[in-house]
Amino acid sequence: MGRVLVRRAYLESADLDLEQWPYTIPAVTDLAEQGLGFTRPITFLVGENGSGKSTVVEALAEAYGLDPYGGKAGTKYATSRGKSVLGEALRLKTSLAGQNMMKGPRKSRRGFFLRAETAMGLLAALSDKPGYWSGNTDEMSHGEGFLTAFDAMLARPGFYVLDEPESALSFSSSLRLVERLHRLGRSGAQVVCATHSPVLAATPGATILEFGANGISEVAWEDLLIVEHWRRYLNDPQSVLRHLLD
Ligand SMILES: Nc1ncnc2c1ncn2[C@@H]1O[C@H](COP(=O)(O)OP(=O)(O)O)[C@@H](O)[C@H]1O
Ligand SMILES: [Mg+2]
Repeated sequence: MGRVLVRRAYLESADLDLEQWPYTIPAVTDLAEQGLGFTRPITFLVGENGSGKSTVVEALAEAYGLDPYGGKAGTKYATSRGKSVLGEALRLKTSLAGQNMMKGPRKSRRGFFLRAETAMGLLAALSDKPGYWSGNTDEMSHGEGFLTAFDAMLARPGFYVLDEPESALSFSSSLRLVERLHRLGRSGAQVVCATHSPVLAATPGATILEFGANGISEVAWEDLLIVEHWRRYLNDPQSVLRHLLD
């Protein structure tokens, strides 16, 4: 069983305007009111498009000091911009290990923020730079590039924030990612991962938080909406499509 670096994310509620985005997103309202605790090394955030997953993972990465455009902790990738509204306000309660990592020089903050939209550019820009990974990911397929990057980057204790890392991956590559995440979680790292993939969400020992209209709830894998949707579709796609296409 691994440990956590970040125990809790919360907001100082005094000067928040709950009428303004992003606090109008139910999951973020919930975060502002209750905070968000982390007890296990791997946490998945699932929920419909627009439910606030990216807003929250970006803010977590920023609060920990990971670059919001991706890249290793303590480095800058692409043009930097200020923190997001939520990232500015979010506070983290860290464990001793997490504190030690954050207190040190920025460079010692091991971790990685893989942002969904910029992932490909990031891979191309970083390949063959010292400290990253070898092999030019431009010459690899999208999925191969990701797996190469994951192999090199998901290797040691740190805080890893991933936004839909499955987007380029086949079913079997997704399984390989599950294996890496599982290993990482047991090695003293912490992972927070937004995903639509029931394959990733099944990683053993992970906490799954569903973002929805009522805020954030911890849900067992078999009770997830994405699992139900995939089950129903795989079981009888034509019956699902009949409703849609009629
Ligand atoms: N900078 C912004 N200003 C206002 N609304 C935004 C901004 N960025 C995202 N949104 C909105 O916030 C909501 C949550 O977005 P997001 O966190 O990206 O959801 P998810 O990652 O779960 O699909 C969406 O309705 C989106 O349109
Ligand atoms: Mg998103």
